[in-house]
Amino acid sequence: MSASPTIIPVNTPSAAYSVAIGHGLLPEIGSRIDALLNGKLRSGEQRCFVVSSPEIWQRWGDTLATGFPQQPTLLSVPSGEHHKRLATVERLGEEMAQAGADRDSVLIAFGGGVIGDMTGYLAASYMRGIRYVQVPTTLLAQVDSSIGGKTGVNLAAGKNLVGAFHHPLAVYADIEVLSTLPTTELRAGLQESIKAGIIRDASLFDYLEQHAEKILSGDPEALAHVVAASVRVKAEVVSADERESGLRMILNLGHTLGHAIEAATEYKQLLHGEAVAWGMLAALHIALARATVTPDQAARMSRLIRTYGPLKPFTADPAHLVALTTKDKKNRSGNRSFVLPVGIGNAVVVRDVSEVELLEAAETFSR
Ligand SMILES: NC(=O)c1ccc[n+]([C@@H]2O[C@H](COP(=O)([O-])OP(=O)(O)OC[C@H]3O[C@@H](n4cnc5c(N)ncnc54)[C@H](O)[C@@H]3O)[C@@H](O)[C@H]2O)c1
Ligand SMILES: [Zn+2]
Repeated sequence: MSASPTIIPVNTPSAAYSVAIGHGLLPEIGSRIDALLNGKLRSGEQRCFVVSSPEIWQRWGDTLATGFPQQPTLLSVPSGEHHKRLATVERLGEEMAQAGADRDSVLIAFGGGVIGDMTGYLAASYMRGIRYVQVPTTLLAQVDSSIGGKTGVNLAAGKNLVGAFHHPLAVYADIEVLSTLPTTELRAGLQESIKAGIIRDASLFDYLEQHAEKILSGDPEALAHVVAASVRVKAEVVSADERESGLRMILNLGHTLGHAIEAATEYKQLLHGEAVAWGMLAALHIALARATVTPDQAARMSRLIRTYGPLKPFTADPAHLVALTTKDKKNRSGNRSFVLPVGIGNAVVVRDVSEVELLEAAETFSR
């Protein structure tokens, strides 16, 4: 049994729910969902379907399943970003229909961001929308992708090009499941926590600086602190700006060039967080030139990003990277928005970053 979890609310115009963060939370999730559904799992009036991959289900499936009054039905998907496709959503929908899923059925996304995004989209579209719960199992999914209601799948033409806003009924982040996560995945996910600290929470930034060793070795208490603080940042930002018309854009720090690096390397060389780490360093370069950060602050941020590295090298032509930034789907009518840190713990979205500035920043990658 875990100590009582930290609860962080998300309140947007279209949904209110909470994120529970704790160690050893998995066995409690079934009864917590049942309580949210007024005991209708126990009574058999509502059914749960869990989407997960064999890797995760083999390690953690039994622990999750023990808490359910009626066994949830497993819908299995192989792991990997290339399965985040409409074809998989179609297959899962067919399986649900055959198993008798109805409008009251509840989906549970039990995995990393790939499973979370795809399950959310399946929930948004199955019978025009059913409820779902996020049980994120990667650090990235716990601090970022499970919160905020963005769901979707990839097309050959680009990532996340088909999707919907559909918030979960609840999010349960169990720190214990991170114990089986490969270190490279943990480190890459922690770059999103560094991002959260830089854009909005100087004390999270300090904590990441002071406790790097503990955090990187998977110390549960330290990780719980970092996950909770990062979730708070995402929850506050999303609550203030659900549809990304303003404030939510600051979550894209490091992502303009990060996405370009991922695309240029065909999503094969770097994990998302690793590409974002490079993107944040580039943003720091521009921020320093524009004096939104001091040299000391830039040095601290760059050091922290590298501490949670190593930053994997990659090969991409800087001019090609800049060209790719104009294709970012976050751009509106040709305006490229770019996030700059303002000191440590604050950020601003600007629209006037020139191609020359971007090119100079991208050229630092090969230095
Ligand atoms: N919706 C959003 O707001 C949002 C935000 C950021 C990222 N995303 C999406 O998230 C996806 C990336 O998510 P990710 O980084 O979690 O990758 P992922 O889902 O591919 O998981 C990474 C790997 O870790 C394995 N894994 C997961 N949990 C594990 C555990 N506890 N133990 C052992 N292995 C485990 C998975 O099987 C997979 O191989 C991308 O598709 C991205 O587009 C969405
Ligand atoms: Zn990201």
